[in-house]
Amino acid sequence: MQIQLKNISKSFAKNQVLHRVDFTLESGEVHALMGENGAGKSTLMKILTGVYTQDEGHVLIDGKETRFKNVKEVEEKGIAFIHQELNIFPNLTVAENLFLGHEEKIGHTGILKTKQMEQKTEEYLAGLGLSVKASKLAGSLSVGQQQMIEIAKALRLQAQVIIMDEPTAALTDREIQILFSLIEKLKKQGVSFVYISHRMEEIFEVCDKITILRDGQYIATKQVKDTTFDEVVYMMVGRSIGDRYPVRSGHKQSDVFLEVKDLTRRGAFENISFHVKKGEILGVAGLMGAGRTEIMKAIFGYESIHSGEIWINGDRVSIRKPSDAIRYGLGFITEDRKSEGLILDFSIQENMVLPILKQFQSLFVISKQREKSFVHKMIKKLNIKTTNETQQVKSLSGGNQQKVVLAKWLGLMPDCLILDEPTRGVDVGAKKEIYSLMQELADQGVAIIVVSSDLPEVLGISDRIMVISEGKVGGFVDKQDATGEKIMNLATGGK
Ligand SMILES: Nc1ncnc2c1ncn2[C@@H]1O[C@H](COP(=O)(O)OP(=O)(O)OP(=O)(O)O)[C@@H](O)[C@H]1O
Ligand SMILES: [Mg+2]
Repeated sequence: MQIQLKNISKSFAKNQVLHRVDFTLESGEVHALMGENGAGKSTLMKILTGVYTQDEGHVLIDGKETRFKNVKEVEEKGIAFIHQELNIFPNLTVAENLFLGHEEKIGHTGILKTKQMEQKTEEYLAGLGLSVKASKLAGSLSVGQQQMIEIAKALRLQAQVIIMDEPTAALTDREIQILFSLIEKLKKQGVSFVYISHRMEEIFEVCDKITILRDGQYIATKQVKDTTFDEVVYMMVGRSIGDRYPVRSGHKQSDVFLEVKDLTRRGAFENISFHVKKGEILGVAGLMGAGRTEIMKAIFGYESIHSGEIWINGDRVSIRKPSDAIRYGLGFITEDRKSEGLILDFSIQENMVLPILKQFQSLFVISKQREKSFVHKMIKKLNIKTTNETQQVKSLSGGNQQKVVLAKWLGLMPDCLILDEPTRGVDVGAKKEIYSLMQELADQGVAIIVVSSDLPEVLGISDRIMVISEGKVGGFVDKQDATGEKIMNLATGGK
């Protein structure tokens, strides 16, 4: 199947987000769509699949003009769209999610063949290297597992074209490898892919072609083998961004700010002991599912612990809920911006000042003027792509939502900031801004803990790295001795 998008333009109110964009997908190719946060990638794919209607331009499928009215029509044509925001229903089982809209029934009785569907589901998932019970509620699975269900859905439909919008943002390395071998296999059968990702290494590993958008404009289409990392970044950003990681000028560390002793939550993590100093950036590496997020959540009071101690500034403290943690000077940027980080129906401004209001309203009144100037400063500093601060967060692009989460916690000016996968879904330029911001904070004496599954990132930004392996501390590595190999070794327990 060949898909051509020609001259596509789209505006939301007065904001034109696509300007006469062209994009062609040939059968059997893996075609990356790249561009900064807010460049228009997701919008273009939503136009192709009829979620939005273009203001001008044409969608041609095998040369024939097409305009889809609903998801069903798209599926019938053999096109599957795995959205950036997952479309999993948490209160339905895994099998119900997989068969949604295509339930198998006994004759015309309307009685569902639940057992059969569950069995088939487990078969599909096993094919993806995933063993989960099909009768489990989808909401109880990890984000990565939910992502794999979305992929299984596309396979079940035997789609000829699969659009993946940030498919690997929440996957483990193992799941990513499974996904890539699957893509290779399907490609040989003529299936084509639109692949959207901010992870450069992946693009160069799995894609054949790259089309680049910048500010809603078509820039170029390149064969992956004929281009380079730097060229792609240049085309995306419109300038060279220099090194990927800012140089860390000799940082000054002083006293220990946070110390954790023998923290245990049975079934999740055991005997976790570590400290972080004021001015230090402590990276936390490990495989996905190793328990890193649970540990951080427990420290912050989102989850309870069975035993262990938390010390702050030399005093033992008791943190039972997040507001306790905030009182002791901790800030926490969660990995799951959708359920914990943001209120999607609120504006950028409301989201950014939310924690400040909640915690300090009783202590002092923040003037609207100060609030506004803080919000403007953050929009500028993090380069958030928006028409203005009253725009609803749900209408921002995925990466720009992540930046709002970040801004929100920076406003609290914590003494210790915990960041869980802060750059997930964020474009290269903004990643560097976030790294610089972390360094700036550290230089001001803030203790920083950053959980990241992106190995080059942990190596690039940390002063010291703690590796978590199966709920235990696998070891610590200093910046000067840190290598990817060493960390993977500790993360897998030498396996
Ligand atoms: N429903 C909407 N209403 C108003 N503006 C929107 C809507 N959807 C998208 N936009 C705007 O369109 C622009 C392009 O957004 P889009 O989601 O396509 O970006 P993207 O390239 O997918 O970015 P990311 O890499 O962050 O996912 C952004 O400025 C965004 O704020
Ligand atoms: Mg997007």
